[in-house]
Amino acid sequence: MEDNIKVPRHVSIIMDGNGRWAKARGQRREFGHIEGVESVRSVTKEAVRQGVKYLSLFTFSEENWGRPAEEVEALMGLMMKAIHREVPMFTENGVRFLVLGNKERLSAQMQEAIRSLEELTAANDRMTMILFLSYSGKWDILQAAKKMAADMAAHPDMDPEIADFDKYLVTAGIPDPDLVIRTSGEQRISNYLLWQSAYSEYLFTDTLWPDFKAENFVQALKEYSGRDRRYGKVK
Ligand code: IPE
Ligand code: IPE
Ligand code: MG
Repeated sequence: MEDNIKVPRHVSIIMDGNGRWAKARGQRREFGHIEGVESVRSVTKEAVRQGVKYLSLFTFSEENWGRPAEEVEALMGLMMKAIHREVPMFTENGVRFLVLGNKERLSAQMQEAIRSLEELTAANDRMTMILFLSYSGKWDILQAAKKMAADMAAHPDMDPEIADFDKYLVTAGIPDPDLVIRTSGEQRISNYLLWQSAYSEYLFTDTLWPDFKAENFVQALKEYSGRDRRYGKVK
């Protein structure tokens, strides 16, 4: 949107640092998750404004199920509340809502809330917002491999190519992320989009997720705009 910004089609964010943000304020971890929801709202609106077509957010990993039960419950409760409360935000901003991950592990109530918001926003076409919930990159690759193996057993002459494998991943039909941002200073992928981020630009920032708002997002787009993507070729 702004002159000096090359807008990525798909921006993905590993939202990290909620717990540390709360701890720094002498509060319980949940306090950080609550402010983290505000960051989601702020960044989503800015992404729409900038003309981003896909914004995906690593919201809860398969490994996060291993956190203390109270924290998992608090996170699920917050997500449930946000899904209900943010309906007008999705409608007003033309945002299609999608959840990808091992959804079977989510409660029936949560699965129903997700299905209903996905249905309600299905025709919105300004931007697609994807929440990766109960997701891990290795899980995705494994479930894709199992489905492909079944198809190959049924069709022995099948000789899949890389692009064919893409279709079995939960992200089928969604372009790979151009930019993956991780907040909170950690410089690791933590089992996120392992296959899909093969050629993504990575941006690590020390800012904790609850402090990451629209202006930080714009700053990240500016930094991305200066990157030279070569895909292994010579320019
Ligand atoms: C990110 O913040 C939210 C989730 C992973 C669900 P954390 O809860 O990981 O916060 P830190 O990393 O402990 O500060
Ligand atoms: C990654 O953050 C997962 C999400 C942001 C949902 P974690 O806090 O779980 O990752 P690690 O444990 O620091 O690698
Ligand atoms: Mg963390």
